[in-house]
Amino acid sequence: MNPRRPVALATQVGPIELANPVATAAGTAGHGAELAAYFDLSELGALVVKSLCAAPWPGNPVPRVHPLAGGMLNSVGLQGPGIPAWIEHELPALERSGARVIVSLWGTTIDDFARGAELLAAAPPFVVALEVNVSCPNHAEGGKMFAQSPAATAAAIAAAAAARRPLFAKLSASAPDLVEVAGAALSAGAAGLSLINTLPAMAIDLERRRPVLGAASGGLSGPALHAIAVRSVFECRRAFPTTGIFGVGGVLRGEDAVELLLAGADAIQVGTATLAEPRAALRVLRELIAWCERHGVAAIRELVGAAQSEFLPDQAPARPNITNC
Ligand SMILES: Cc1cc2nc3c(=O)[nH]c(=O)nc-3n(C[C@H](O)[C@H](O)[C@H](O)COP(=O)(O)O)c2cc1C
Repeated sequence: MNPRRPVALATQVGPIELANPVATAAGTAGHGAELAAYFDLSELGALVVKSLCAAPWPGNPVPRVHPLAGGMLNSVGLQGPGIPAWIEHELPALERSGARVIVSLWGTTIDDFARGAELLAAAPPFVVALEVNVSCPNHAEGGKMFAQSPAATAAAIAAAAAARRPLFAKLSASAPDLVEVAGAALSAGAAGLSLINTLPAMAIDLERRRPVLGAASGGLSGPALHAIAVRSVFECRRAFPTTGIFGVGGVLRGEDAVELLLAGADAIQVGTATLAEPRAALRVLRELIAWCERHGVAAIRELVGAAQSEFLPDQAPARPNITNC
């Protein structure tokens, strides 16, 4: 009898190689090695740490989180210790954990992105890439986040080049034209895309007749976001066949990861699920492997973009034929 070969898990996301396609999503796994208390972080493809900026940042007023039927709202507001303190206090434990680290960078001005990137240039090589968070709904000046403008997104990416490592633009499905913004990020030097951040959303406390969150508005995440993430990945993969893509949004089970891979993600990130279950990303990886075994998939790369195959270049519209009505 032929013993079955293990599923080949390695994947490539733009220029970075990962041992497997499951990572944590920024803001849901801490700034450092917090999750190492629950499992061996080197078992994941990568650990994306919570978004940081150059200086410490206090975040938003409480309450900052609110559960919903289809997921949750958060308005954490990017609370963080600042990059120098992160390098001093969090990086050593991250190094000991053996994780491949992707650090997320945010700012309220283009200068912030440049300053943060310059500080991150000093990070050691196990920090394999930067995710440039231009899409936080809790930091949208005048209601407009960087990721709603191709020019502002391109400027933030260009500023982040000072970090001297591959950049992934973390984008929002609330952009008027996601593919246009993604194209601007890639033209400005991004090596790939992380799709998608939370969507701006709100809940009202009926008794107080006021918004539930201290900041009034927040970001929607979890299962309610999943189909939007799938469409975002599908559209961007169609438009940029060779760019690196992380699929993010509502991954609770291995099947959700399979769906994002089929849409065109090279790897996926697990966010909200980790808040309720710290080992969620590892469970998703195991469920993904089990799915591949049940379906005779020998290598993860067989799945990447496979749902695009009916849109062959000579038959397909320039953009997927998906309408909103
Ligand atoms: C509590 C919380 C904090 C988050 N903080 C960040 C952050 O610091 N930077 C960022 O780019 N995304 C942040 N996100 C967005 C997630 O990384 C992810 O893009 C989004 O939640 C969708 O994935 P999910 O449905 O698996 O949570 C946060 C999400 C949550 C729920």
